[in-house]
Amino acid sequence: MNRVPRFSGPPLLGLNHRFLRDPVGMFMEAHRRYGDLVELDLGISGSVYAAFHPDGVKQTLLRGRRVHRALLRELLGKGLFTSPSGDDWLRRRRLIQPLFHEDRLAELTPLLLRSLDEVLERHWLNAGTVDLAAEMKRATVAMMVDATFGRHGDVDRAVAREELSFLLRYVDDRLFTFVQPPRSWPTPDNRRYRRSIRTIRAIIADAVRDGRRRGGDEPTFLNGLLASRGSDPEVRFSDEELVDEVLSIFIAGTETTGTALTWALHLLATHPAAGEGLLKEMASELPGDTLTPAVLARLTWPKAIVQEAVRLYPPAWALRRVTDDPVEIGGVRLPAGSRLIVSAYVTHRHPQVWSEPERFDPVRWLPAGAAERPRFSYFPFGAGAHQCMGNMFALLEGELIITRLAQRFRMAPFGRSPVRARPTIALAPVPGPHLEVIPIS
Ligand code: HEM
Repeated sequence: MNRVPRFSGPPLLGLNHRFLRDPVGMFMEAHRRYGDLVELDLGISGSVYAAFHPDGVKQTLLRGRRVHRALLRELLGKGLFTSPSGDDWLRRRRLIQPLFHEDRLAELTPLLLRSLDEVLERHWLNAGTVDLAAEMKRATVAMMVDATFGRHGDVDRAVAREELSFLLRYVDDRLFTFVQPPRSWPTPDNRRYRRSIRTIRAIIADAVRDGRRRGGDEPTFLNGLLASRGSDPEVRFSDEELVDEVLSIFIAGTETTGTALTWALHLLATHPAAGEGLLKEMASELPGDTLTPAVLARLTWPKAIVQEAVRLYPPAWALRRVTDDPVEIGGVRLPAGSRLIVSAYVTHRHPQVWSEPERFDPVRWLPAGAAERPRFSYFPFGAGAHQCMGNMFALLEGELIITRLAQRFRMAPFGRSPVRARPTIALAPVPGPHLEVIPIS
């Protein structure tokens, strides 16, 4: 059996300071210097094995168990996204699965499009220049709130959007800012968090009660959740659990999608050949302003642009697991209880799999450019038991946003400062890119 090379840092500290300063750079260096399996020294916190080759990714994601997400659970409740692997997670997953069925998503499309059009009309039409990250957050929060509650009930959607936007920022600060005042201190942010979580939970709880009383035929997430309750009280969601699940979907599905689309549009605007490919296809397949699921299905470029953006900048850029049994990776047997980490950012650039890995090239994902690649060389949505539930929804939002923007606006980068990837809840571009947008009359 081989031995695993160790990437060490200073005694006690290990690589922790580098992990906090530039984790993505640290992982890339670990792969460059030590190869496909490396032990990362985390000082007094022990060590973790990083697996970069698709075979190691497979072993990690198929054999590992997701570790407890204590802080997220404490902040946001016990929904699917914050649940560790186990029976309770499995029960939740089975109850939620039907929400993301292809037919339901197709039914949701007109509703999503209306939310998006509303945002574009209010915030893009006369803007001249837009802050892409802020606008993608606005659009994805609006689409998520409407997809959850629909557009016809009594829910105060404006307040729900505002509180959700705040919560996303608060969770981000909690997870990724090094020095934080304790949560029990009455700082303005901590007070606002308590108010915000109370408000948003109350909004969801009211909508749950209302939905159950009135029933609803819009294909919303909430109606889907109410319908998937089943009749067995041992299995079905309680009202309290339903609130947790909605919150869980909100948090899992907005920042990730918003950041992915910020990158996608930034990359599109800075790579004219991709823009030309998109517009050419739209001219032949999408005459006029119609945008239906059937029309969308004929377009290949919008999806390819999102797929390539999340290859280069996967919002969930690293995933952690722990093994309950010994596991063999790259000819090395790691003992039970090993801590493992995989990084989509690194594996999506693996030189044995990807040609010109740093190049933004959506053609890789078009039928004409498709190449055979190992299954676990690309996992922006994770893989195995915990694979993202909302991946189809995220892709649908992306396709809608890219296509609609290309129908309605000419877009060009505003300012030329280079952006780099900064890990937060997702992998955000900094400084935030801006676009010049000119409505097509
Ligand atoms: C580009 C957008 C998105 C990305 C990159 C993304 C990525 C991921 C990844 C990597 C995981 C696996 C986490 C792990 O293995 O621990 C995951 C799980 C999950 N995602 Fe997403 N996601 C996105 C959008 C969404 C959306 C839109 C929703 C909901 C509408 C959603 C709901 C979930 C849920 C509920 C889980 C937990 C699944 C489980 O643990 O069983 N995600 N996501």
